[in-house]
Parts: sequence; C-alpha cells; structure tokens
Amino acid sequence: MSLLIGIPKEAKQYENRIAATPETVRKLVTQGHRVAVQSDAGSQASYIDDAFISAGAEIVDAAAAFSADIVLKVQSPTDSELPLLKRGAVLIGLLEPFNTANAAKLAVAGITAFALEAAPRTTRAQSLDVLSSQANIAGYKAVLLAASLYPRFMPMMMTAAGTVKAARVLILGAGVAGLQAIATARRLGAVIEASDVRPAVKEQIESLGAKFLDVPCETDEERKAAEGVGGYARPMPPSWLTRHSVLVHERAKQADIVISTALIPGRAAPTLLSVETVQAMKPGSVLIDLAAGRGPEYEGRRGGNCPLTEADKVVVKHGVTIAGYTNLASMVASDASALYARNLLDFMKLIVTKEGALNIDLADDIVAATLLAHDGEVTRKA
Ligand code: NAI
Repeated sequence: MSLLIGIPKEAKQYENRIAATPETVRKLVTQGHRVAVQSDAGSQASYIDDAFISAGAEIVDAAAAFSADIVLKVQSPTDSELPLLKRGAVLIGLLEPFNTANAAKLAVAGITAFALEAAPRTTRAQSLDVLSSQANIAGYKAVLLAASLYPRFMPMMMTAAGTVKAARVLILGAGVAGLQAIATARRLGAVIEASDVRPAVKEQIESLGAKFLDVPCETDEERKAAEGVGGYARPMPPSWLTRHSVLVHERAKQADIVISTALIPGRAAPTLLSVETVQAMKPGSVLIDLAAGRGPEYEGRRGGNCPLTEADKVVVKHGVTIAGYTNLASMVASDASALYARNLLDFMKLIVTKEGALNIDLADDIVAATLLAHDGEVTRKA
C-alpha cells in the first residue's frame, strides 16, 4: 500500500518553515509513499523545487498538496486552506492544542488531526519533540538578535584603546530555549545568570557556566507548585512571584541583555519584568521576549513576560530595546525545517505501518496525547 503525502506552502505571516525537506521526502518515497510538494513551498527555507523533484516528489498546486491522505504542515491551516483538506485526511502539525476553537474547526471538517506540541516529554517521544527542536533554535537566535541590537560588545575585549567589559546577560526561564540561550551567550563571552521556577534546573544552568538565581520556596504550597506537572511549570503562588520579581528587578537593573522564555502551557505567560523594572534598566539594554503575544493583556494587546513587549515588533521603551518576535525558529528557517521535518517523520512511524497503511493506535501514549480531532469529534481536552 502507498499513501499520498501532501506538503503545502505555509500561508501564515512570519512563517518561513516547511514541514518536509528533500531528505525526509526521499525517506518517505523509499518507504513506498507518493509525495506531493506545493510549488515554491520550501523556497523561504532554501529548499528549492528541483531538490524535492530529485528526492522523488511531484511538484503540485495548493489544492493537490492539501488533498492528500496525509498532510504535513507547520502551522494550522487557515480558514481558506481548511476546505482544501479531504474529510478523513490526516493532518500533522503545530495545531495549537490549547486553541479550542481551532480544534473544533478541524473536527467539523472531519480531519484526523495530530497536534505535535501535545506529545509527552518522555524519552520515547524525544525524537519527535517539536517543542524542543524549535525552542532550541529560538533560544540560539534570541542571543544573536540580542547581540545585534545591543550597542556594545558581548565579550570582554582588551584593546589598545582600552578594555571593554563583557555583557551581563539575564535569562528568565531555563527550559529548552533558555538553556540554549545560556550556551550561545556563553560562546559569545557574556557573563550570565538565569532563573526558573523549577529548582531542578539549577544543575543544568550551572553546568553551562551560568549563575543560578535562586528564589527558595518557603511554603508547602510554593514547593508543590514548583514541582510543576509533566515537567512543565505551573503558575506560582503570588508570595513566590513577589519575591522572584524583587530579585528579577535587582538583577535586570545590572543586566545589559535580558532574554525571557517563561511559559506555562495552556495559560498566559507569567509577567516577570514589570514596567517599573524596564524603567530601572540601563539605557541601551536589550530585552528579547520569547513569550511575546502570549502574556496577559496590557493596553489592549497581549504582551509577553513583559507587558511592554509588542508582538512581532522591536520597540524602544524607557531607553530599552524590546524585541517581540513571535516566531524565532522561522528566522533560522532551513535548519528549523530540517529538524521539524525529522520530528514529523519519526511521528509518522507511530501511525503508518511498515506496509504503508494508516493505523491509529490509541493505546500508544504519544498517539493518544497528540490526537486533537478524529471522526468529527474533538478528542483532546485543552
Ligand atoms: P516551556 O517552554 O513551557 O517554559 C520555559 C521555561 O519557563 C520552563 O523552564 C519553565 O519552568 C519556566 N517558567 C515558567 N514560569 C516561570 C516563572 N514564573 N519564572 C521563571 N521561569 C518560569 O518549557 P520547555 O522548554 O518546553 O521545557 C519544559 C520541560 O520539559 C522542562 O522540564 C524540560 O526539561 C522538559 N523536557 C523534557 C524532555 C524529555 O524528557 N524528553 C525534552 C524536552 C524538555
């Protein structure tokens, strides 16, 4: 048996990635499938149509790419793309598992949809962990953007004209993105400190050469919240957040660059840098807010870990340059696509048999956790 696998061009703004590369297409073709790639779908990520043809794909229009048995996407289909999918088709992508309205639309369209962000953070799921593969890239790119927006050097530099001090970098949230940001800033010679709600990250932060900013838990309620759930953070009690914000305020005043990455799945990102903290920061300092557009509402729009962050804009507030890019992985489109496409290939092994038939086995914890819609129903609780 062979399946037809469609790879459409991503339509959303700021999305340069593609869900397959010539490498993964070649593997799918070797497995006996037919692959239909929409014309020009990979050009923003430097994968040209000819490379897909050499890998064994057909180049098709949007309608043909969407009408496949399995459609591989980066972002959720837009309202104009959704009708192009067949009822009963399988859709795999970053389908926003906490966006109930989107899940309902996919269910009504009769799509079997898998939201890969919902995969458990287990050893077996590591090779298909899209959040990790993309957050790692975002953490790296955040540091490069900070370095280019910052009007000084990152490393200490001894020159004939005098010595320049190394930049002080403060990283808030030391998950996948934050840890990569530490590693990248370290390579550029910065002096780094980092904080997180999860005390378990202390060792990881220190092993990368950064200082851990500890806000010890003082009550059982705080300790319980800090344990998180499934490896993820949970909202911390106000008592802890107050102590944390006092420390962040003090450290941000000394910092040259702040990179904030704190997220809580299914909830607004926590506010870690208040307006007063930004006012107290040094002129010329830089904040890269990876939670841009996902924080609480402030002055009619959603900020990030800082209320002053504006999604997809670079603004200067109180002398601080605040970058609110919402899709940093897409800015490293070629490698981000390569890793994402491999994640998808690994996921497909769970739902396509060696003989090339679809087999959705809900006894598999990864399949069950990622299945968002099936048979006209939303199958996952947000
Ligand atoms: P994330 O993107 O959801 O959040 C980023 C970071 O922000 C987290 O470290 C979180 O603890 C932190 N944070 C949340 N609220 C905060 C606050 N108020 N102040 C400071 N920091 C705050 O997290 P990510 O990167 O997706 O990682 C989630 C977990 O999954 C981590 O424990 C990570 O080690 C784990 N993981 C496990 C894998 C595996 O075993 N296969 C693979 C990848 C990640």
